[in-house]
Parts: sequence; structure tokens; C-alpha cells
Amino acid sequence: MPVDGNAKGSHDGPVAFRATAECPARGLLPVAAFHPHLSAMPHTIVIFGASGDLTSRKLVPALYNLMRSGALPDHTRIVGFSRTPMTDDEWRTSLRETTAKHCDCGPLDEPSWQTFAATIHYQPGDIGRPEDFAVLETRLRQLEGGGEADRVYYLATAPQFYEPVVSSLGAHGMAVQDHGARRIVVEKPFGTDLTTAQSLNAHIHTVFRESQVFRIDHYLGKESVQNILALRFANTIFEPIWNRRYVDHVQITVAEEVPVGRRGGYYDTAGVLRDMFQNHLLQLLMVTAMEAPARFNASAVRNEKVKVLEAIRPLLPEQIAAAGVRGQYRDYRHEPGVPADSRTATFGAIRLEVDNWRWQGVPFYLRSGKAMSCRTTQIVIGFRQPPLELFANDTPMSAREANRLVIQIQPAEGIQLHFHTKVPGAGMHLRLTDLEFSYSREFAGRLPEAYEPLLLDVMEGDASLFARADEVEKSWEIIDPFVQAWASPDLAPPDLYENGDWGPMSSFEWMASQGRTWFDMCPVLT
Ligand code: BG6
Repeated sequence: MPVDGNAKGSHDGPVAFRATAECPARGLLPVAAFHPHLSAMPHTIVIFGASGDLTSRKLVPALYNLMRSGALPDHTRIVGFSRTPMTDDEWRTSLRETTAKHCDCGPLDEPSWQTFAATIHYQPGDIGRPEDFAVLETRLRQLEGGGEADRVYYLATAPQFYEPVVSSLGAHGMAVQDHGARRIVVEKPFGTDLTTAQSLNAHIHTVFRESQVFRIDHYLGKESVQNILALRFANTIFEPIWNRRYVDHVQITVAEEVPVGRRGGYYDTAGVLRDMFQNHLLQLLMVTAMEAPARFNASAVRNEKVKVLEAIRPLLPEQIAAAGVRGQYRDYRHEPGVPADSRTATFGAIRLEVDNWRWQGVPFYLRSGKAMSCRTTQIVIGFRQPPLELFANDTPMSAREANRLVIQIQPAEGIQLHFHTKVPGAGMHLRLTDLEFSYSREFAGRLPEAYEPLLLDVMEGDASLFARADEVEKSWEIIDPFVQAWASPDLAPPDLYENGDWGPMSSFEWMASQGRTWFDMCPVLT
């Protein structure tokens, strides 16, 4: 693949993973292969917010794919709870349609759908009416035949319902682990700032112990994100250079081509900082910067991640302006639900410093936006230039691109190492070229959707890939000062950018003022 900065491209839809003649693919292991310990106990997954988008677009398709691949434990049942009056069959019929649309699995296979549909049940009820939880508990007991079962309560509701659900589960003894494990999954947003996150944690802890709580960030379920752990901790070659002696800076970009669209009402109160930075971007930063845990278990992994957040240098209010750039795409104010004078940032770039021995002096640039050039999530480890100029007759080193490692999280999952080579012929003429690993060439089959491994992890009780209470609170502590500063009426409105740009001009100028450039490359899908 040619290395080509500032390339612009566009794509959409699922990426096919296939072998090529030169490079026969090796098969993906079924997700089940990584979950040999799932108990033989029956499992009940209770979804609050059963008639919502998350359930139909993500959760049920993920469960269906797990079932098809044989990864879902045999005695698993799914119980939906929401206000919409529906029978079991009506919910099954509606899920059949949405699953066919969102499962990324080709035409629905009738026999496997029928097997799956038989595990689906629906219980109408109102989260605001505690007595409906008594009815739900009776129904669950009935379905579980009065015996033991591990339960997962999945909060797929609007965030204002998290606390009432937790209270009612507590009031009806539904968190007590006498008849099997009781776990709760909490979706993002987990609070809207440090104070609300602390109070939500405190509330949850009145009913559930921390070991029962799974705060989900679907980025951690992405294969290519987990692969960062493999890249760093299953290899020896990267460790010696993964530090301030060799790394000049790190860029973490989550660019989205889609605009805000129908989500204007929510998005205008969240903005890019709450929607993307506090969760997904900080998670990517943590896995990039963390030390190797002594063991691969939830407590060791999360201890190391939290240490990264603890090492991030707090910024004084007067330092915030210089530590970031805000942008808004030109058409944003015309989106439904967005006020005509909105000052919400749909693009943000911030600079964080990790004050520890490994990263002292290495800036971490985090950037994300809607309506950008293309959909790409990538982490760029930008290396330092060599200490000595030998080839000044070619492009001088100051104008030459330095080595970099590009970790493509999505949609062209893979890794590229960029380095200089001599162009054949007379003279020492150099060109940047690359070594590449690509999932699509290396592995056959469809990559599991992020929710698939995460759902199995919850069923197994493995919280390694879920945020701990202190982790979410620390994340808010880092992002809150930016949110507050960017909301100040004294500040000019965010800089405009055209739909399809890589953000506002000020973002390029800001990087240039620090002697660096963004690595803006749309991935090439094969
Ligand atoms: C969600 C945000 O958490 O992540 C959305 O609320 C965003 O605004 C989405 O589009 C991005 O997820 P992915 O997996 O498509 O990169």
C-alpha cells in the first residue's frame, strides 16, 4: 500500500475478510474457543430497554451470531423488558426483521433463527413502577423453572432510567446471588461529568458489589483494540522502543464520516468530548500507554489502565485553551434537534501529557469528529528522527517523514510500519514505504462484532474489558475541565469545517505550531 498523507476517500458498510491467492487466509477461531469456562449453568439475559435501538441493532444480532457460531451456552434465554405492549411472538417477529438487517451475516438462516427465537421472551413493564419488577421476577423464576441460573441485567435504556432500575432490582432481591450469579451491564454514557458518575457509582453500589458491575465500552470489544495488547505484550520487538527515548508523539484519531443526523437532541448536550473522548478515546490511550500487567486478569489489567489516567497531567483552566481545538461542521446547526445557535463541538483535538518514566515529554494527541473525510480509527506511534543526518543530498531530514507505526483499528483493521528505503538507482534517494499486517489478508471470515465477545465475557464474569468504577471517574476528571472550558460563553464559537474535511483549519495550524502534522489517511479497503 502506498504511504500517502492527506489522502481522501470514502466508504461505508461492512468490510469483507477474504484470502488472496498470494496469501491464503487462516481461519478465525470461533469466539467460543476463548470462553471454555462458561458455566454449564443456565443463563438469563434480561434486557431493559428491549424496544430500543441498541437492543435491535447491536445486542440481539450479537447474541444471534454467538448462537449461530455455537458460542452461546446451550441453556441461555433472553428476556426483554420495556413499556411497549407486546407478546413473546410479536417481539420475535420484530427482532427477526431487525436482526436480518443488522447481523452482518447474510440472509437469515431459517432453522438457526427458529432455534434462537425459541430462547426469546418478552415481559411488558414500566421501569417507573416498582411493582412491575415483582411481576418480572415471577416470570424469570418461571422461565428458570425455579432452579438456579446466572443472570445478566443489561441496561439498554436511556441513562435517566439506570438508577430506578437498580433500585427496583435491589428492592425485589434480584441482585442477591443465592440462585446463581447476578451481573449488571451499564451502557455509556456513564454520567455526564465526575459528580454524576460518582453518584451513579454510589447508587449502583448500594445494590451491586463492584464485581457484579460491568460498565461497557464497545471499543474494548473490537478485535483490533484487543490486538494492541497482543502487539505490545506478546512480542519483544516493540517494548524497547515503546517509550520517550524513541517515540516523539502519539496520535489517536476516531474520525467518522457520518454526521450527527437524527441524534441531534442527544448530541447537542453531549458534544464530542462526552460522546467520544471520555470513553472510547481514553480507552485507546490507556491500552496504548499502559504497562504490562503481571497477569492477564481483570484486576491486574485495570490497575495498569488506571495508573495511566492517574499519570495524566492535570491542566489549569488557563492552560486548556492551548491544549486543544474545537470545531463544528458547517451543516450541524441544520440537523434536527440542534439549536440554530448551537456552540457544541462536533470535532475536538486535545493534547494530553502522561507524566511517568515511560512517557514523560511525549504528547498524546486525541482527535475525533463527525462529518469528517472518512471513517477511520487509528493510532499512530510517531517515532523520533535518527540522531544523525547522513543523506542530506536527498530530502533533508527536517523535511522527511519520521518512522511511524500505524495501528488501524477500523475499518481496514491491521498494522503498518512506515520506514525509509533506498530507491534503486544512482544516489541515496529515499522513499517511505511500509510493512503491513492486514486482518483481511491474514484471516478468513467475518470479524466478530464488538458486542459478541463482551457479552460472553459478562456471562463468564470476566471484567477485564470493562471499566471499573475508579476508571470512569478518573476519565471524567480528565475530560471535565475541557468540557467546562469549551462551554464558556466567553469563548468564540467553535471553528467551522466543511462536511468531509479533516476538521477545521485551526486543527492543522495548532499541530504545525507544535512542529507536527496530523497523519490524515483514509484506509484502503481490499
Ligand atoms: C458511540 C457514540 O459510543 O460510538 C457515537 O455515541 C459513535 O456517536 C459511535 O458514532 C462510534 O462507534 P463505532 O464502533 O462505529 O466506531
